[in-house]
Amino acid sequence: MIFSRKAIVATMISGALASSPLFAAEVVEASSAKHAKAATQYRQAIFQLVRSNMGPLGGMAKGALPFDESVMETNAVRLEQLAEMMGDYLSVDTRKFDVETGAKDEIWINFSDVEKKVMALKTAAQGLQAAVASGDESAYRGAIGKIGASCKSCHDDYKKD
Ligand code: HEC
Repeated sequence: MIFSRKAIVATMISGALASSPLFAAEVVEASSAKHAKAATQYRQAIFQLVRSNMGPLGGMAKGALPFDESVMETNAVRLEQLAEMMGDYLSVDTRKFDVETGAKDEIWINFSDVEKKVMALKTAAQGLQAAVASGDESAYRGAIGKIGASCKSCHDDYKKD
């Protein structure tokens, strides 16, 4: 079989898009009340892990805790990994079901924007890793601040108060 050059290029491009994290998740409707409840629990669980890793970093940025490079490195790697999972866990649309959630309906209407905000968290988590690798203590507070700003940016638009 002979493939046209155009078809091969198109295949390569769609392959590249499929493997890009920005395009990893597609919105899927929860299939039952049970599914919606579980999906909501997983979604909240991921944010609990995010919080547990962000807590000490916030304390360091405020000066309540001394800068600890080992904790910063570990937690920044974990936040990057959690960001990698976030799109999948946010993609289950639970709007049709009566679940107790802080998620706004707009998540599933503007999902590509949500994914951008997930990417901002991932980039900020990588930024903190880079700051630690450079050993430049004057960059630590700003790098943690960028992570915090990425949380706020998503919460402002997609989380109920
Ligand atoms: C891409 C969007 C997005 C980003 C980025 C994000 N959050 Fe959230 N967060 C949400 C949404 C949506 C909810 C509500 C989830 C629900 O109740 O179903 C939430 C809920 C939470 C909760 C409550 C979880 C619970 O048990 O109800 C905490 C804590 C939290 N986020 C912390 C953070 C922190 C800290 C960061 C940054 C390091 C962060 N989030 C980044 C969207 C985001």
